[in-house]
Amino acid sequence: MTKLALTVNGRAYGPRDVRADLTMNDFLREYLGMTGTKFGCGAAQCLSCAVIVDCPDGTSYTVPTCAVPAASFDGKAIRTMEGHAINGELSVLQKAFIKHFAFQCGYCTAGFLNESQVLLERLAKKPVARADLDKTIAEALDGHLCRCTGYIKYHEAVREVILADPARYLET
Ligand code: FES
Ligand code: FES
Repeated sequence: MTKLALTVNGRAYGPRDVRADLTMNDFLREYLGMTGTKFGCGAAQCLSCAVIVDCPDGTSYTVPTCAVPAASFDGKAIRTMEGHAINGELSVLQKAFIKHFAFQCGYCTAGFLNESQVLLERLAKKPVARADLDKTIAEALDGHLCRCTGYIKYHEAVREVILADPARYLET
């Protein structure tokens, strides 16, 4: 056993004892009941299970949870699918995903949503040229696999959110 204490969607959990071989995916789904984080390949290949890790310097990144020990998240702050809507109001990205019919079975959606949110936050800090936008989105979402092949819809949804607020996300 090992101790685990972390922050999930702004709420502190633990410290509590967990098995050293417990994956973060099982911790979220089975211990915290947060089933928005999916389990796909189980081999850190599809990123359907990715969550956001928030760093003390204000930056963030995504990591898979399926093949990663929960204990490796000790002391960290993360965000999951459940953290996007505020008081029942879907985020701008979530609304755009729905508007564009970006997902079919939805299995990959949490990973795409988290990655897209990280991209928005990165662009808000460091905008890109309009000419580089499509390349930037493609690079950010690269590695996320969708068995229903909704790649273009996800891309279009993220692009729409960015283009709706050019002063925030794009170089002037
Ligand atoms: S389920 Fe974790 S990367 Fe595929
Ligand atoms: S919507 Fe089914 S895997 Fe992406």
